[in-house]
Amino acid sequence: MRKINIAIDGPASSGKSTVAKIIAKDLGYIYTDTGAMYRSITYLAVKHQVAFDDEAGLVALIEKYPITFSQTTGGQAVFCDGEEVTQAIRNNEVTHNVSEVSAHEEVRKRLVAQQQKIAEAGGVVMDGRDIGTQVLPNAEVKIFLVASVDERAERRYKENIAKGIATDLATLKEEIKQRDYLDSHREVSPLKQAADATLIDTTGMSIQDVVAAIETIVAATLEDD
Ligand code: DC
Repeated sequence: MRKINIAIDGPASSGKSTVAKIIAKDLGYIYTDTGAMYRSITYLAVKHQVAFDDEAGLVALIEKYPITFSQTTGGQAVFCDGEEVTQAIRNNEVTHNVSEVSAHEEVRKRLVAQQQKIAEAGGVVMDGRDIGTQVLPNAEVKIFLVASVDERAERRYKENIAKGIATDLATLKEEIKQRDYLDSHREVSPLKQAADATLIDTTGMSIQDVVAAIETIVAATLEDD
């Protein structure tokens, strides 16, 4: 059977990566977390003391330190600059500054080119903000996931508690609103639903329900071939 590409976009904490990972596993496809790539460059900027507004410096980091993904028993691991950064790229310093890093046109151009290369042969489930609009405009399936700010903050809160990370729900809500604003109002490739994407509001839906809804769309697309 032909391998298609599946683009899953949406705002912070809308559940994209959770469902994208399950769908990739079910289909035997490759999962690509593009947010992890922007986070890795932000992490490298902190590590190598490159300012978040130094576009040329950030581009130099991208060229010097390739980002790689590998499948492990514990899930997908991210590596760059000789270390595993899977956990480190989720820390607060990275989370607070990744929107600024990802707003640079030259940073986006390079990471988008890498993402397009990963998807060249098909069989990829890619999640992000601009996959359906910019990275894979010809993806056979495009999904745009949304959920209320309250629900997204609750989900992130529960995840943090499960990981033993101390958090405050009100702060999480503010952070999510702030990131939504920055990601949707930046000049280059803002978060936006592709005209041909299917909108799914996951507020009140279980993960399994969201996965089932997307897999139904995938099955219908494959049947049409
Ligand atoms: O999905 P995430 O929260 O890990 O993404 C981190 C940041 O990266 C997010 O605030 C916006 C940016 N991003 C982007 O601009 N384009 C993408 N395709 C993916 C993420």
